[in-house]
Amino acid sequence: METIARLHIDTFELSLRDIRQVDPTLLHALSVSVGWPHREGDWQMLLDLGQGLAAVDEIGRVVGTVMWLRYRPDFAMVCMLITLPRLQEQGAGSWLMEKAHELNPGVVFGLTATREAKRLYRSLGYGYEQKVLRCQGEAAPDALNPGKVMPFARTEGSLRPLQAEDHDSLLRLDCAAIGLDRSAVFGSLLPVSEGHVLIRNEEIVSFALCRPFGRGHVIGPVIAATEADAIAVSRPYVEVHAGRFLRADTPACNTAFTNFLVASGMQIHDSATSMGLGRAPYMPSIPGGPRRIALASQALG
Ligand SMILES: CC(C)(COP(=O)(O)OP(=O)(O)OC[C@H]1O[C@@H](n2cnc3c(N)ncnc32)[C@H](O)[C@@H]1OP(=O)(O)O)[C@@H](O)C(=O)NCCC(=O)NCCS
Repeated sequence: METIARLHIDTFELSLRDIRQVDPTLLHALSVSVGWPHREGDWQMLLDLGQGLAAVDEIGRVVGTVMWLRYRPDFAMVCMLITLPRLQEQGAGSWLMEKAHELNPGVVFGLTATREAKRLYRSLGYGYEQKVLRCQGEAAPDALNPGKVMPFARTEGSLRPLQAEDHDSLLRLDCAAIGLDRSAVFGSLLPVSEGHVLIRNEEIVSFALCRPFGRGHVIGPVIAATEADAIAVSRPYVEVHAGRFLRADTPACNTAFTNFLVASGMQIHDSATSMGLGRAPYMPSIPGGPRRIALASQALG
């Protein structure tokens, strides 16, 4: 088709602001523009927990974001790197990452990269890659009925809903699993989550939380030493949310847990990559001990 006229519109200048100074509805609009499912409440939780930058054009439109959560003085989880589609491939994403690095000197960084962003992070030196599967769909507990699908490994112990006095045990398990203190994260997650714990020898050995997120509910974090334990604590949510949208993000090495999710109606929808700059982002403190079987979210790790 013949071109009738041309107009160059991408010559505008961006300035950086503290992300807390911009209208959260604009942040939400930005994540919607790249097809992310976050609700305003999902953004609000991250804004309460972390810090970040918003790139704003001359008339106040938010065209890019990056956030980071300091889990420890020497560790930050980077998340919510987004640039407006019409601005992409022009250096804004790398620029936001460089600014986030500059504002956190001497820190080890971790993140969960989407497929679009993986090369960008690699070019900035990120490595220690671990593939993470995003499983989602309509929860189908019937498929888990005995005899209908493969039996999942049985596990010893008793299962019960989470109680307030369990919170310290959850923090200890999470800290042993990832090597970082996420008490601030749990402070935000626990009030909005359901929880189940598995008890053996009068000790909590595994837990799973589940909360509203995106299009429905997300199961996570799930911390356990074995996939059988992780399945035991996650299974109640498949029943509770039968017929509704459920999601879980699990490292791809967890094949039994992934098979359980798929059999429960949560198909593998996409994959992401957990990455670290400086060292591996998560380091379980006990070999063979508790580890992260489902992420709290891609942003929170
Ligand atoms: C991922 C994302 C943030 C990248 O943002 P961006 O603004 O396109 O980032 P950049 O322009 O800095 O870099 C993108 C690529 O363009 C290249 N590039 C940078 N400057 C360029 C320029 N002036 N001309 C041409 N290419 C350029 C970069 O080298 C990079 O290439 P690579 O993929 O081979 O590394 C953006 O695509 C996005 O918002 N995606 C949807 C949300 C998402 O997935 N976010 C990541 C969360 S982990």
